[in-house]
Amino acid sequence: MEEKRILCVGLVCLDIISVVDVYPAEDTDTRCLSQRWQRGGNASNSCTVLSLLGAPCAFMGSLAPGHAADFVLADLRRYAVELTHVVLHPESSFPTSIVISSVSRGTRTILHTNRNLPDVTAQDFEQVDLTQYKWIHWEGRNAAEQVKMIQRVEEHNRACPAHQRVSTSVEVEKPREELYQLFGYGDVVFVSKDVAKDFGFQSAPEAVRGLHTRVRPGATVICAWADAGADALGPDGELVHSDAFPPETILDTLGAGDTFNAAVILALSRGQRLQEALTFGCQVAGRKCGVHGYDSIV
Ligand code: ADP
Ligand code: FRU
Repeated sequence: MEEKRILCVGLVCLDIISVVDVYPAEDTDTRCLSQRWQRGGNASNSCTVLSLLGAPCAFMGSLAPGHAADFVLADLRRYAVELTHVVLHPESSFPTSIVISSVSRGTRTILHTNRNLPDVTAQDFEQVDLTQYKWIHWEGRNAAEQVKMIQRVEEHNRACPAHQRVSTSVEVEKPREELYQLFGYGDVVFVSKDVAKDFGFQSAPEAVRGLHTRVRPGATVICAWADAGADALGPDGELVHSDAFPPETILDTLGAGDTFNAAVILALSRGQRLQEALTFGCQVAGRKCGVHGYDSIV
């Protein structure tokens, strides 16, 4: 039987990336080492990584017409990402990011613009045939709508036998109050360093211990922390940690978190234990930091 797909719901945008040695000072005119267009957006990046890791996957998100959208659509097709649930908004502008990636510092500075592209709604999500998917991941955005989508999956799961249930995960990446309602949903909750710090936590183990009370009983909370690796707390209350796997040279950290999420989701969806999944996530994310883009992570 064909492996069921993993669906990622969230943003696709265009990243215009300038690779520099040293981050430029304001009001200077310098040359960069290289420049490229790359498809971006957390959910879309996670799809790229899932595909490269050999997992059938699908993307659900909004698009607006134009050259940038043509570019990202062609790229999604190139990675064999299923696009059945892309919603077109003919009157909107397509979101873009200017990214300065500094190789000497391993930093990525993102300047994002999204003027008027609405996120997909619970009504759009009604069209999704849940039986096609084994896992659905939400990049936290329009949280109130996303809660309704997750509730639909929970209802579906209650009505079907255990082996047909759809696992769920959410990512709370931006430190925005509206997103914090998502803590209460999903089998797995990914929390970023920025959000952890917003709650006053100074490390990943502190964050997962502190935030575990906010996730629903039986859920797992995971926090990645750049070169400190990642920590997680599952339903049994045991703290799990993986060190980072730094590459020889850090070349490009853009999308490291999205890579980590994809690898962890894939491992868990294939029945691996939390420790194995966390280690795999850090291994793949570490490889990503050592290459430009994603193509050489496998
Ligand atoms: P992002 O800033 O993209 O959200 P994170 O900082 O959350 O990414 O990192 C995700 C994972 O990527 C980490 O758990 C780690 O495994 C890997 N990673 C990120 N930065 C580095 C780094 N400088 N060295 C080694 N691994 C890293
Ligand atoms: C990386 C990323 C970029 C995008 C930005 C949006 O995690 O998804 O591809 O430009 O974040 O916030």
